[in-house]
Parts: sequence; C-alpha cells; structure tokens
Amino acid sequence: MAVTRTFSIIKPDATRRNLTGAVTKMLEEAGLRVVASKRIHMTREQAEGFYAVHKERPFFGELVDFMISEPVVVQVLEGEDAVQKNRDVMGATNPADAAEGTIRKTHALSIGENSVHGSDSDENAAIEIRHFFNDDEIVG
Ligand code: PPS
Repeated sequence: MAVTRTFSIIKPDATRRNLTGAVTKMLEEAGLRVVASKRIHMTREQAEGFYAVHKERPFFGELVDFMISEPVVVQVLEGEDAVQKNRDVMGATNPADAAEGTIRKTHALSIGENSVHGSDSDENAAIEIRHFFNDDEIVG
C-alpha cells in the first residue's frame, strides 16, 4: 500500500474544548503521521473558498459561520492510504451514525459541530493541502 497524504482540520468545536491533543492522538494511533500543522483563524473568504463545492447547500452559511467562529488546526497527515485511513478514524459525518471508537463518535456534538474535516479523495487532498500550506511547511 502506497504512503500518501491527506488534509485534516480540527474544527472550532474541538479547539474550543481544548481537544487538539486528544484528536491528534487518535489520528496518530490510527497510523497517521502529522507532517504539517498550524493553528489559524480562518477568514470568511478562506472558508467560503474552501467550502465552495457546498455553496448551494442549505447549511452553507451556517457551515462558514461555524468554521470562522474560533481558531482551527489545519494539518497534513501522511500514512499508508492516508485518505481512507483518516476517514475511517473520523467516522460518519453525523456523530449519531459514527462507529464506536471514531473521533466523531467520541467527541463530535452534531452534524455541523463534528470536530474534524478530512479530504475525500487523493485529488481533493492535494487541492486542500495547497489551499493552506506551502511546500516548505510540510516536513515528511
Ligand atoms: S460529506 O462527507 O462531505 O459527504 O458530508 P456532507 O454531508 O456532504 O457535508 C459536507 C460538510 O458540511 C457539513 N455539514 C453541515 N454543516 C452544518 N449544518 C449541517 N446541517 C451540515 N450537514 C453537513 C459537514 O460537517 C461537512 O463538513 P466537512 O468539513 O466537509 O467535514
């Protein structure tokens, strides 16, 4: 299995509750390595650009408002089949549907305040990583 990269966000509901370390520990225990990480307060423009694919969905405004409400931690994660590995440890979007032992089952509050974002494909991972990181900020 190839070593690949994915993009992760520890969302405002998690940073607000001081869960950055707890979430990162679960990512690491799942076999992912943090090769870049920074805490940022997203601008509205950044959040709208990042979630542009969802702009016609009814929750778009709520999603953007939430993502700029508090700082987030953006990360690049590396590991074998990193996109799938990350999605497995995150669990389903809605914590009510997430499996036991996943980040969202353990920590998420609701479908909106669901603690983490993870890329859904290698192609989107590359786009999302470029959105927030320069090459020299990623140290494998
Ligand atoms: S998925 O896995 O991308 O198909 O999930 P999806 O349901 O399409 O949701 C995309 C992102 O929108 C967030 N979301 C919501 N935010 C606020 N309110 C409601 N009702 C809501 N439903 C979905 C969801 O957490 C996803 O965020 P990201 O950051 O992409 O995980």
